Amino acid sequence: MDTRFDFNRSDLETPPETEPDRQLYFIDLCRNYIRRKKEQDGKDLTYAVITFGCQMNAHDSEKLRGILDQIGYIETDSEEADLVIYNTCTVRENANQKLYGHLGPLKKKKQENPDMMIGLCGCMMQEPEVIEKIRTSYSYVDIVFGTHNIYKLAELIFRRLTEEKSVIEVLKEAEKTVETLPQKRKYPFKSGVNIMFGCNNFCSYCIVPYVRGRERSRTPEDILEEIKKLAEDGVKEVMLLGQNVNSYGTNFISESEIINVRPAYGFPELLEDVCRIPGIERVRFMTSHPKDLSDRLIEVMKKEPKICKHIHLPVQSGSTGILKKMNRRYSKEQYLLLVDKLRQKMPDISITTDIIVGFPGETEEDFQDTLDVVSKAAYDQAFTFVYSKRTGTPAAAMEDQIPEDVIKDRFDRLLSLIHDISAEQTKRFQGMTKPVLVEEINRQDKNFVTGRLEYNTVVHFPGDASLIGQIVNVKLLEAKGFYFIGEME
Ligand code: 5AD
Ligand code: SF4
Repeated sequence: MDTRFDFNRSDLETPPETEPDRQLYFIDLCRNYIRRKKEQDGKDLTYAVITFGCQMNAHDSEKLRGILDQIGYIETDSEEADLVIYNTCTVRENANQKLYGHLGPLKKKKQENPDMMIGLCGCMMQEPEVIEKIRTSYSYVDIVFGTHNIYKLAELIFRRLTEEKSVIEVLKEAEKTVETLPQKRKYPFKSGVNIMFGCNNFCSYCIVPYVRGRERSRTPEDILEEIKKLAEDGVKEVMLLGQNVNSYGTNFISESEIINVRPAYGFPELLEDVCRIPGIERVRFMTSHPKDLSDRLIEVMKKEPKICKHIHLPVQSGSTGILKKMNRRYSKEQYLLLVDKLRQKMPDISITTDIIVGFPGETEEDFQDTLDVVSKAAYDQAFTFVYSKRTGTPAAAMEDQIPEDVIKDRFDRLLSLIHDISAEQTKRFQGMTKPVLVEEINRQDKNFVTGRLEYNTVVHFPGDASLIGQIVNVKLLEAKGFYFIGEME
């Protein structure tokens, strides 16, 4: 453990102004509070972090859990914990509804447990209407923060304890990034690493650019330093995270807030440097926007054995007309050419995607184009979403919103095609022996373990806990839809 976190700073008179020292100071103050509380009540205080949404949120939650562990809270998965934090998603309307469903019952639990605190953070909190609703209908929520100040959790808890009223701090844009505070990883052997934040693409249906702000890349120095430390700590696989990793390097933001532009250093260069780090054996990244996927990136993917031959390449729709209305900036043909190019250079590559059904104005013909792309691109996996109207996005104001029954019918047809295509795709590895990074004991059968191929395909095979975190060769005996049953060689 980093010795800085053992340092007692609570006797300092004023909090340091620079980060991460300021947060370490507040972690220390909160830790003193928790320690005293434990002495007084004779029991630990517990926390639960409930995460909705994407990999970025999952990674942000690891930061929250790292801070809470340092403070001295004990983790539990029960929503009756003394501190419950919801890390929210707002990409689709049902994600918002889900949060309110969780919050309602907590009012009573809070009355029963006066120590209980409720925190809300993440994308949904970046929306002013949501904050208004929390203020009026859920005033028992203690702490509200957004996507740009996750690192300030200890300071916000301290303020809540000392100011004795709800603390709401949501920033429109990031003032700085602080990525060097403790993180508690879900898996000791693999980790997400933020390489950039925000999005500048403004796809017309998407709320992300409004809630995550403008695109900002972390400097290569900061990223490589973080990955070196992870490798020293036993991490073998890193997932480089960004809404649009292919445009990495246009605007840099560093821990010291200096922003500079280095146009010669982009995502392919970063990937090459990450592959040079000893101990890192697998490198993944997501998400790639098709419009920015360069030949140089394909070359680097092909030549670097550590880069997993898997690309998540959201198509969203197969219709050129709909893609234009979505502001995706590629046509059906351009997308398919890109897929061909990837397969030509890396014949075994696995390609996955996201597809939205029922975007305003989508006709049966447009939808047929989507089915056509799914057949031609031969995805290993496709994530399908019913179009959700997000207030404030250009698509929400478009005419011709599609009726629910039409969407449902299309959605079912799409799912069935994807099911057949990906089952067929998965089979291409049947009978081969491939390296698998073992992740956990199988959830259904304790005599099996579960891991992943570089293609991201799940493999179950007989094994025990000693294999977790290791990369072992497994014969892929039988493809069962999206996954394999195998046998260690
Ligand atoms: N409705 C439905 N799906 C959406 N996505 C983003 N915004 C919306 C929306 N308004 C999907 C896209 C994106 C994935 C993360 O979520 O497919 O790639
Ligand atoms: Fe949303 Fe498009 Fe940005 Fe992805 S690239 S986060 S879909 S605006």
